[in-house]
Amino acid sequence: MNYDIPTDLIERLIEIRRELHANPELAFEEYETTAKLVQLLTEYNIRILPLPLKTGLVAEIGDENKGPTIAIRADIDALPIQEETGLPYSSKNPNKMHACGHDFHTVGILGTAILLKKFEKDLQGKVQIIFQPAEEIGKGALEIIKTNVLKDTKVMIGMHNKPDLPIGTLGIKSGPLMASADGFTVEVKGKSSHAAVPEAGLDSILTASHIITSLQSIISRSISPLESAVVSVTKFHSGNAWNVIADKAVFSGTVRTFNHEVRQTIKDRLGEISDSVSNAFNSEVKVIWNPGPPPVMNDDKLALIAQGIAHQQNLKVIEPKMTAASEDFSYYLNDIPGLFVFFGTEGNYEWHHPQFDLDERAIPLSVKFFTDFSIALLNELSKNVVTI
Ligand code: NI
Repeated sequence: MNYDIPTDLIERLIEIRRELHANPELAFEEYETTAKLVQLLTEYNIRILPLPLKTGLVAEIGDENKGPTIAIRADIDALPIQEETGLPYSSKNPNKMHACGHDFHTVGILGTAILLKKFEKDLQGKVQIIFQPAEEIGKGALEIIKTNVLKDTKVMIGMHNKPDLPIGTLGIKSGPLMASADGFTVEVKGKSSHAAVPEAGLDSILTASHIITSLQSIISRSISPLESAVVSVTKFHSGNAWNVIADKAVFSGTVRTFNHEVRQTIKDRLGEISDSVSNAFNSEVKVIWNPGPPPVMNDDKLALIAQGIAHQQNLKVIEPKMTAASEDFSYYLNDIPGLFVFFGTEGNYEWHHPQFDLDERAIPLSVKFFTDFSIALLNELSKNVVTI
């Protein structure tokens, strides 16, 4: 579409971003952020749905009687990090910082909502605007899904800023983009004894060590060399005294994968190896699997439509490398086809760094991209040209 984003709107979005940046809130504590969004959406006459959410919200624009429903998601939470950017609008809240740029996502999608509201009469369907809490702990998407607000939603779209991509560059990739992030804990139960009388005990440290070593065979011997995955043991606790055989050892770690089959194989092998090795050492074992977000799997057709819009806007499109970081956007993709893109924000520091910053020129670019992408999706879906 041929239109310009009003300069005063761009200035306002930058101002709002700086205000959000100065007042970051952690996962499930985004009360002021939510209140601010309610105030702004109300000011622009955008409908907010009455949902049982403590923080975060869902708004909507358009009419579901005129066509399909799509959803755009922005995450709104910050991280427990002490900011060290020295920016004039640095965090006022000690040990809290928008170090992952969710303040940028929030205003990019807010600006999109404001523009879509202007074009509301012409929208061929409905656009849901999701301001999601608690992405950083991987739990907010599930809260939104629980409300059932997405039962008729045909397509989900969302973004993450990317400091290593220049302004005006968009990372679009079909298929896997970001990893699943599961946790596990293994508890080995042996029997204590005098350290000088080991035959009277069952050494849980030795058993756990053998399990840990064997776990490192999963990637090399149970997963195809053409796949990528990570198994990392990151904590190991056992023993209380130098002269006592420890009766209990507990270790934990994480598994990252880019597809559902690999994820299942690793989970199965983790259980089998723990059981078999413990059995060999006459010890008992308990394996606790803590499922996190699945991998982000992008839809091929949506990726093509997004590329078309990006080209129209003279954005440079690249195919980004997969990242082993996770994103709870993936929970939406369990039931709804979607696309998660990387937006170039040209910063010197990576996500979660205390000096993380982004270039605000990306704000109007993201507004324009998501506005046009939403309109194109509604048009394509309502014409049934594309069956997603
Ligand atoms: Ni993030």
